[in-house]
Formats: sequence, C-alpha cells, structure tokens
Amino acid sequence: VENALKIAVKIGGHLFPTELGAEKIIEYAETLTRIVNQGNKLLVVTGGGGEARKYIDIARKLGADETVCDQIGIDISRLNAYLLISKLGNLAYPEVPTSIKDAKIFFQTGKIVVMGGLTPGHSTTAVGALMAEAIKADFYIIATDVDGIYTADPKIDRKAKKLDKITARKMLEMALAGKCWAGTYALDPLAIKVIERSKIPTYYINGRDPKNIERTIKGEKIGTHVVVGE
Ligand code: UTP
Repeated sequence: VENALKIAVKIGGHLFPTELGAEKIIEYAETLTRIVNQGNKLLVVTGGGGEARKYIDIARKLGADETVCDQIGIDISRLNAYLLISKLGNLAYPEVPTSIKDAKIFFQTGKIVVMGGLTPGHSTTAVGALMAEAIKADFYIIATDVDGIYTADPKIDRKAKKLDKITARKMLEMALAGKCWAGTYALDPLAIKVIERSKIPTYYINGRDPKNIERTIKGEKIGTHVVVGE
C-alpha cells in the first residue's frame, strides 16, 4: 500500500480502570483493526491503569521500594497488553515483547505488536517514545483521558486551557516540576527527551473516543501537537 504508515500508539490507563471491562477494549480493537486494514503498521503500548496503581499502593504499604513498585506496574501493563491481544486475535503478534529488540523483531512480522512497560524508572509513555524511535514511526499518538496537554491539570483547575501545540522544551519544564513516583509519572521527562531527539511527530489526544486515533492519522488537528526543534 502506497500510503502505508508506521504508527506507535500508547493507550493510557483509562482503558484499564480498576473495574475492568471488555467493552472499551473491544471498541479499541475495532479501531486498531480498521487502521491496519488500511495498510498501516501498528505498535501499541498499553499502560498499567487502575489495577497497577492499586497493586503499587498496597506494595508500598508493605514496604516495597520504588523499583519493586515500578516492576509491578510493568507486569500489570503487560497483562493489559494481553487483554488487547486477545481481542485483536490473528492481527496481533501473540506474545508481549519484554525488550526493544524483541519488539522490533516481532514488528517485522507485520503483525500488531502490543506491549507494556520495559524497565523501572519511567512510564509506558516513554516506552512508546522509544519504540516509535526504534521502528521509525511516522506518528506517535498518546491516547489519554483528556483532550490534550493543558496549562494546568484540567481535573483540578477549571481555568486550565488545552493547548493545540506545545514545544518539547516547555513540556520538559512542566515534567520536571511534576512527580516521578511509581504509578504517577505524570509527564515523563524521559518520554519528552526521546520525542525531542527522534523528532517523531507526536500528538496527545483524547483516547476515550478511540476514533480520535484515526482522525489524527488523517491529519485532523485535535489534541496537542508536541513541537520539536524550536
Ligand atoms: P504507566 O504509568 O505508564 O501506566 O505505567 P498508565 O496507567 O498508562 O498511566 P497514565 O494513564 O499514562 O497516567 C504504570 C506504572 O508502571 C511502571 C511505573 O511505575 C508506571 O507508573 N512502569 C511502566 C515502569 O516502571 N517502567 C515502564 O517501562 C513502564
């Protein structure tokens, strides 16, 4: 296919709330199926979601250090990957890769690769950025539960404004001011540095409607575009 694109997508925790359900995962799988049926190649990173945060909270109370908590988050994000693989069936590579190298090898089969985290100390958003770089993706799409990057946390500050564009530099400033604990890598500095160096066109979008992924691929300007090199 002439217009075949390579797309890396990170699906945030909103798809995997503590009260897990199949419905939203089915809807996502349908969208992803349409995208590959149009000839595109997909690499998907799933977040840890509510279950990861629940396990991390309990582990922390039991005395686990942050690296152990991170590892729990990684393991749960991988379980979430298997849920999406279950619905994608034959379109997906049946195994969740646990290294960038394996992910690249699996991606060469042409199947949708679905994976979770890799190593402690960062978020699945950073994993998506590293994978976007590794497969030389045309797009990196980060599907969250809000419309994009805001001037402040829109769930707390009602005056927060959504930005159509933001420079990687500005995002890094915001990220460095935020928290970096297991379960809460709000804006992850590593993710932003990798986006900056790889220069892969990156968009934060609202993934509550998975069709927003298709809209972004078609060039509709929704969400927030991360501008690099300015
Ligand atoms: P995320 O925080 O990336 O999941 O991973 P999420 O649920 O998608 O988060 P949102 O929705 O984007 O906010 C869950 C946890 O797993 C650990 C971290 O502790 C992270 O908070 N993790 C994940 C790692 O330590 N390394 C990884 O490569 C990925």
